[in-house]
Amino acid sequence: MELKVTGINKSFRSTAGEEKVEILRDISFTVRKGKFVSIIGPSGCGKTTLLRIISGLEHPDRGTVLLGDRAIASPVRDIGYIFQESALLPWRTVRKNIEFGLEVAGVDRKERERRALASLELVELTGFGDFYPREISGGMKQKVALAMSLVVEPKVLLMDEPFVSLDCQTRSYLQQVLLHVWEKTGKTVIFITHNVEEAVFLGDEVICLTSRPTVIGKVVPVDIPRPRERTSPELNRVRKEILLFLEEERQRAGIRYRNGAG
Ligand SMILES: Nc1ncnc2c1ncn2[C@@H]1O[C@H](COP(=O)(O)OP(=O)(O)OP(=O)(O)O)[C@@H](O)[C@H]1O
Ligand SMILES: [Mg+2]
Repeated sequence: MELKVTGINKSFRSTAGEEKVEILRDISFTVRKGKFVSIIGPSGCGKTTLLRIISGLEHPDRGTVLLGDRAIASPVRDIGYIFQESALLPWRTVRKNIEFGLEVAGVDRKERERRALASLELVELTGFGDFYPREISGGMKQKVALAMSLVVEPKVLLMDEPFVSLDCQTRSYLQQVLLHVWEKTGKTVIFITHNVEEAVFLGDEVICLTSRPTVIGKVVPVDIPRPRERTSPELNRVRKEILLFLEEERQRAGIRYRNGAG
């Protein structure tokens, strides 16, 4: 199922005054089924807002989100959302956390257990089902968050800087786990990150956003076969292209700022 984002506009009224601040301006893109799209852009440009709109948690002022031919206006089970910091229920074990969404959906106990175990295995957490969140590391918590999304079998996974608080090594490892899950399940993924290396290593395509009012500044295809070598010259070339764009964008934004126009 294709995910189609068309003409998204969003402004927020600032808390200080009456004036509206334009955040997203006419954002349109399409993600084909099973594709992995990275989105990168300056802090505060509206990445989280965009992801929340795609998930149906937030409403755009204008524009539409279509999953297949269904318009998304509120959260649906077909779209999973993974936050920067996972929010696990501390009084439930890992397995019970993973089963939570299934309980809400009224799935019976046997089936819940079967699917929770399968999800644990998919994210390489077999054997940790009976641990409590306080007993596992940050990296493992993010794996649990991934398993919690996967267990309800969404078609699309939206990920908002899910690995940002992890150390480099754990981050690289979780990227591998995510790619493994993605290749195995064929999910469509939209992955937000500040990290150019991560965006390029993971994505089939990198959508680069400008600063506010935010438009799509550049779409960079990453036509590099997988499995990819992190240090390959091909990846490096794409990385450079994006870094150059971000630098130009910083300068443009700086000029706008000095002119007092934004
Ligand atoms: N509910 C809201 N009410 C008012 N302003 C909001 C609201 N949500 C977001 N904003 C503003 O919209 C802008 C974009 O926020 P958003 O969190 O989407 O940015 P971001 O690109 O995800 O930033 P970061 O990279 O720091 O995570 C910010 O200026 C923020 O203050
Ligand atoms: Mg954000």
